[in-house]
Amino acid sequence: MPNISATQIIILGGGGDLSQRKLLPALLDLFTRKKLPETFNIIGLARTPRTDEQYRQFVAEAIEAHCTNHNHTLQNVMDFCEHVSYVQGSFDDIESYHRLNEAISNFDSTNSIACNRLFYLAVPPKHYHQIFSDLKTTGAADESHGSWTHILVEKPFGRDLETAQTLDTQLASLYREDQIFRIDHYLAKEAVQNILSFRFANTLLKVPWNKDSIESVHINMSETIDVGHRANFYEGVGALRDVGQNHILQLLALVAMREPDNFNTDSIREARCEVLQALKEIPTDEFEASVLRGQYEDYQKNDIVADDSQTETYFELKAELDLSEWKGVPFYLSAGKALDKEEVSIVVKFLDICSGMFVTNTCLSVGNKITLTISPEQTIAITFNTKTPGLGFNLESQTLSFTCEKGDLDIKNAYEKVLYDSIIGDQTLFTHTKEVLAAWKFITPIIEEWDKLPLHQYKKGTKGPAKSIIK
Ligand code: BG6
Repeated sequence: MPNISATQIIILGGGGDLSQRKLLPALLDLFTRKKLPETFNIIGLARTPRTDEQYRQFVAEAIEAHCTNHNHTLQNVMDFCEHVSYVQGSFDDIESYHRLNEAISNFDSTNSIACNRLFYLAVPPKHYHQIFSDLKTTGAADESHGSWTHILVEKPFGRDLETAQTLDTQLASLYREDQIFRIDHYLAKEAVQNILSFRFANTLLKVPWNKDSIESVHINMSETIDVGHRANFYEGVGALRDVGQNHILQLLALVAMREPDNFNTDSIREARCEVLQALKEIPTDEFEASVLRGQYEDYQKNDIVADDSQTETYFELKAELDLSEWKGVPFYLSAGKALDKEEVSIVVKFLDICSGMFVTNTCLSVGNKITLTISPEQTIAITFNTKTPGLGFNLESQTLSFTCEKGDLDIKNAYEKVLYDSIIGDQTLFTHTKEVLAAWKFITPIIEEWDKLPLHQYKKGTKGPAKSIIK
């Protein structure tokens, strides 16, 4: 790894679900792989009163319950926990930030160094505004003696175009763009990074990847889990803001983007951004054919959810791009909770052969199909036409498929990559403000009309609402 100087990692929301399930296990993995700086300190900030020792115990338990890499020894976990401490506080109390700043400064003085500071906002977006400004005013986010401060923010960044712009203006007035790391953990997944190699490192695919050969693209994120204990966050947010505005649109950007001029941060982000900016606004009179929302039947039974909640747990969109190479190609986007299967996939359907020797009644060919499965397993499958064995000449469809897992080298928890890249200062897999705003520009007009659309009910464990706009 590049030689990284001493760094303090401060997790705001250090007692929350994201910290327990993803961040703390990812930090332990980095520690075990010796990818954290030699001198580092992790401070958790949360509301619950805890001593450092109690927080270390909490961290050890979170790791035990959620770490996907089981190669850690007990000693390893104990060594890691030695680097962990705790500050009790709440996000709306300026005193908490003073205490945090004091804890950060104490570590610096004890070690006679000015550490880099990495702030991870693992908190609901409603706190962002206050946190950005209080970190600044209390000096907690100060950079000194050549050290850096990076601020990591989780999606959704804002609730719509206007709130995202307001947050963005505030952030830009306090921090430089190179200090801001807007997380979309989908970009950090191995399988998602692989889309670039698959598309641009294979001549076979570079050539036919456009409207002349492709009929439609289907991006689907199907989850079996329901909203459960996350209702507090989810209610009023809904599926479109939770995973549509970000993860799904980023997948679309990677599938449709032009080949970047260079393999560098600016070129890759620029290429993704070009696609997002080319998303055509869906006119309201086309909503019937292009937009659909649903809610699973028991959603309103959750204690936190209002009895008449209109929050969608499922959506479908038909998007189109204002780019010459994609003219007329529909991108069907869908996602939902409490469905029948756990799978994130991208299916690219190629056009049927409509000329040549196989356009006959007896030898019908079917369009090729490429399926990139992002999870649960990273697989790539291509269907193509072959001759059916036998005396006659008929065609049948066969599938060539392989799984990309690489054992221990595989990064199973995308947050490991998120944290690593933010420490080494690589912003390639983080969204630029222009990408976030372009995505909101497409989504906001839909959200504004959301409540006027039917909310189709579906039973848990099914494929979603009976009605669908996907062809
Ligand atoms: C998060 C959403 O960003 O992504 C969750 O807030 C969703 O609702 C999750 O379940 C899915 O991520 P993954 O990595 O489990 O596919």
